[in-house]
Amino acid sequence: MLGFMSKLAVLTSGGDAPGMNSALRAIAKTCAGRGTELVGVELGYEGLIDGAFRPLTERRGATLTTTVEVDRCGGWGGTVLGSARSERFRSAEGRAQAAERLAAEGVDGLLVIGGNGSLTGAQLLADEHGVAIVGLPASIDNDIGATGMAIGVDTALGTIIDACDRISDTASAHRRAFLVEVMGRDCGYLAMASAVAAGADAVLMREQGRDDAAVIDAVEQTIRRGFERGKRQVLIIKSEGVRLPCTKLVREVNARIEGDLVRATVLGHVVRGGRPSYQDRRIASRLGFQAVLAMERGRVGTMTAWRPTVKDAERTEDPTVGLVPLSRVIEETQRVLDGTSEVMRWRLQMMERIAGVLGV
Ligand code: F6P
Repeated sequence: MLGFMSKLAVLTSGGDAPGMNSALRAIAKTCAGRGTELVGVELGYEGLIDGAFRPLTERRGATLTTTVEVDRCGGWGGTVLGSARSERFRSAEGRAQAAERLAAEGVDGLLVIGGNGSLTGAQLLADEHGVAIVGLPASIDNDIGATGMAIGVDTALGTIIDACDRISDTASAHRRAFLVEVMGRDCGYLAMASAVAAGADAVLMREQGRDDAAVIDAVEQTIRRGFERGKRQVLIIKSEGVRLPCTKLVREVNARIEGDLVRATVLGHVVRGGRPSYQDRRIASRLGFQAVLAMERGRVGTMTAWRPTVKDAERTEDPTVGLVPLSRVIEETQRVLDGTSEVMRWRLQMMERIAGVLGV
C-alpha cells in the first residue's frame, strides 16, 4: 500500500493514438485533485532517458491545478507530450539511465500510455529497477492483450468508415471496385470491424493465413460476384498485415477482369490522426482515473484494462475497468498475435461466419 504520492510522471510512447491527450488530461486532473504533482515526459522513453520532464500540474497558493495546456488538450488528436519508438530504451543501459532520471526527478511512480512495445518496456523498467508503473493501453491496432478495447481504436474505426463511405460514393459513380488498406500492423481487428461497419464485400486479414495466390483469387471472385449481381461498387478492406502490396494486387486483378475496374487506396497514417471520438475520450478518461488510483493503492506493475478479456483481472470500483499484471498483458498479447488467445479465436470464428455473408 503506497498511499499518498507526492509526485508522478506520465509518458506517451509508440505510435500515437487519438485519446492519448484525453488520458493525459484525466490523469493530470485526478492528480491535481488529490494533491499529487504530475510531470510529463516528452517523446516517450527517449525523453525519459534524456530527463526531458515538464510540469503538467502547477501550484497556485495552497492548491494544485492542471496546466492550461493539459486542461485544453483532452479533445485534440496526437499527443501533446510527443511520442517515439526508442531504440536506446531497448538496451539495459538505456533503461538504467531512465530509472536514474526518474529517481533524480523525485517521482514516486510512472504512468505509461502506449501499445505492445511500450508496455513491454514498462515491465522491464519495473523488473530491473523497481520503478512503480501503471500502464494504459493505447494503440489503434487493438492488439493489446487482456483489454477489450485500447485507446484510439474507436476513432480510427470512425475515420476508416468515413473514408470507405466516401470511396463508395465515387466507386458507384464509376462502377468500380476498391481495395482499401488499413493499418493494424499484424492484427486484423481494424479491417475486420470496419468491414462490417462499412458494408464491405470482403475482408483480407493476415490471420486468414492465405498465400498471395489465394488473396488474388479471393479478390477476383469477390469483384466478379459483386458486379454479376448488379452492384455498382465493390469494396474490399485489406489489413496491412497482408503483405501483398495493393499496387500488385490491383495489377493482377485488373489483368484478369476486363475494364480496368479496380483501384486501391492506402489510408496509412490518416487513420491515426484526428480528434478523439466520445468513446475514446470516455475510455481514456476512465482508464486514466483508475490508473492513478491503482498507483495510490500500490497496485503497480499493472495495466488498466477496458472490459478485461482475461478472467483473473482484478476489479476496480469502475465496473468496466479492471487491473491486469503487465506480465499477463504481455503474455496475452502474444496469444492475440499468434491466434491462440480465446478472444482472438472468437473473433476469427465470428469473422469466418461474417465473411460468408459480407458479399451476399
Ligand atoms: O501500431 C500503430 C501503427 O500505426 C500500426 O498500425 C502501423 O503498422 C505502425 O504503427 C506504423 O508505424 P510508424 O508510424 O512508425 O510508421
